Amino acid sequence: MNFERNIIVTGGAGFIGSHVVRRLVRNYPAYRIINVDLLTYAGNLENLKDIENEPNYLFERADICDHEKMSRLISRYNVSGIIHLAAESHVDRSIRDPFTFACTNVMGTLSLLQSARNIWEQSPDGYHGKLFYHISTDEVYGALPFDSSLFTESTPYSPHSPYSASKASSDHFVRAFHDTYGLPAIITNCSNNYGPYQFPEKLIPLFINNIRQGKPLPVYGEGLNVRDWLYVEDHARAIDLIFHKGTPGDTYNIGGFNEKRNIDLVHSLIAVTDRLLGRPQGASLPLITHVTDRKGHDLRYAIDASKLQRELGWTPSLQFEEGLERTVRWYLDNEEWMERVTSGAYENYYREMYADR
Ligand code: NAD
Ligand code: DAU
Repeated sequence: MNFERNIIVTGGAGFIGSHVVRRLVRNYPAYRIINVDLLTYAGNLENLKDIENEPNYLFERADICDHEKMSRLISRYNVSGIIHLAAESHVDRSIRDPFTFACTNVMGTLSLLQSARNIWEQSPDGYHGKLFYHISTDEVYGALPFDSSLFTESTPYSPHSPYSASKASSDHFVRAFHDTYGLPAIITNCSNNYGPYQFPEKLIPLFINNIRQGKPLPVYGEGLNVRDWLYVEDHARAIDLIFHKGTPGDTYNIGGFNEKRNIDLVHSLIAVTDRLLGRPQGASLPLITHVTDRKGHDLRYAIDASKLQRELGWTPSLQFEEGLERTVRWYLDNEEWMERVTSGAYENYYREMYADR
């Protein structure tokens, strides 16, 4: 079968990546979507069960740090677009193990950039029609005070955690490849995503699961830190739009215009989850447990996404209350997914299936 375009999505078995892959596979039958993922603890092909047999979907187990393998894949599939999401993504893990974050996020991105550059420069039409789209985070901008200031595309980088330092470094390499070699590249910096298929080490799925099981809810410090929340399908829609309509060389901020203090978010989560479980209002409030704060915990993130709104017409489509209700409902309805993730069953199944790759 001949495809109009072949597109690699790295990290497609992860949380956001799986939503991006699903969206592209469904909306663009003329494209072949190649999901390239190493299947680390965070990669779960069960996130893509509903589209795994589609004729325009392919999975390749590969490490983005494996330069030769990535070059082979780009070349073999005549890839014209790379949407790069593969990364180590959890701040707490980066505090425990910064080295892995540098390897995957910095060296992995550099290695992928080299592969794309080498193959595309040697292709008959060079960089024409090619795009390297790098998915980054608002955390590279550092932290904001409790006022009305926002991160814009020109806010200077000031990362604090090993995670954000590694993402900032990878962003700089992407820009360097654009500025030095002319590689057509776009970077987007997005705020906190929430929704189905998120690994339950992150606040929202962890807390929903703990409320369901009556376990403590470990709020770091006083819970006054502020995050800007965006429903994951709205992020996937922005990625689709920017991939097709964005200007190479540009950066776009993506955010939910939706700031919440952690403690307020936890109260909302308790209210919705208790209600959906048929428990009396506030039944799970005693589960809130204030624990030692995260080291270097950034106070506040808030994104100004007005450039994306102005230039490409994107705005978040879902109100937070609706997104949260949908999310809680999904985790409660998908207990088996959660059980297989928390028990590690999903890893054994797919690791065995792709053991020879
Ligand atoms: P995730 O941890 O759920 O998924 C990461 C995926 O990358 C997994 O499938 C994993 O197997 C894969 N991976 C890791 N190392 C790899 C390697 N060496 N080679 C190939 N694949 C590898 O992450 P997520 O939350 O979906 O985030 C995806 C991207 O979006 C990341 O780059 C992250 O920095 C960025 N981001 C995330 C958020 C958020 O709120 N989750 C917000 C802004 C930006
Ligand atoms: O801002 C974008 C970033 O959002 C992404 O780049 C990261 O990949 C993603 O993981 C997320 O980072 P955060 O650190 O903001 O997300 P997390 O869900 O880990 O934490 C959200 C907030 O909740 C944060 O202030 C820390 C706090 N927290 C988190 C956990 C896991 C708690 O209070 N208790 C917890 O147990």
